Amino acid sequence: MENLFNGKITKKDLAPYEMIGDGKDGEIYKVADDKVVKYFFKEETWQRELEAMKIGQTSTIMPRLYEYGEHYIVMEFVQGISLARHMKRHGYIDEEMTKKILFVLEEFKRLGFTRWDTEVRHMLMDASGDFKVIDHKRAFTSNAPYPTKLMKGMKKFDLSGEFMKHVKTLRPDVYQAWKKAK
Ligand SMILES: Nc1ncnc2c1ncn2[C@@H]1O[C@H](COP(=O)(O)OP(=O)(O)O)[C@@H](O)[C@H]1O
Ligand SMILES: [Mg+2]
Repeated sequence: MENLFNGKITKKDLAPYEMIGDGKDGEIYKVADDKVVKYFFKEETWQRELEAMKIGQTSTIMPRLYEYGEHYIVMEFVQGISLARHMKRHGYIDEEMTKKILFVLEEFKRLGFTRWDTEVRHMLMDASGDFKVIDHKRAFTSNAPYPTKLMKGMKKFDLSGEFMKHVKTLRPDVYQAWKKAK
């Protein structure tokens, strides 16, 4: 397949596209129906996220990686709402969703990431309710055996208790380990 960019990106290359995300570490533009480009402000952040995304390609929780070059990554556009938005809109986390969240955390572990955590705004749910996670720059630089950030995000919507109740039913071993770690 033809590449969208040729190894280096300038502001001019991005001008035709709509900016759909504007984070602390980069800007995200929609470059095709199914693709975005994340343009990084810093080379170091780009390298860290690229490494995690490459390693993560064996997992369904990772957006597909299409091409990359100096300070940018072209990846799958994940259509859907974040876990944060879901909680705000619907006000619940059910057992089925808990299963899928636990799967995401297990995948971080399986991939060898040292951060077994993410933020509720970085978990995007597709049409079938499966999660894809974005923003992996801390996959290997944080050390998190317990999903502190995720739980904090749930607490904001008063849903961490509900989530933990489902975890206890589904995976009592995980529940105990998290409780101890707290
Ligand atoms: N692959 C993607 N598909 C859909 N939206 C995305 C994608 N990547 C990023 N975004 C959007 O852009 C925002 C910022 O992206 P993020 O990777 O978190 O940037 P930063 O590293 O600056 O925090 C996200 O919150 C999301 O709304
Ligand atoms: Mg982010």
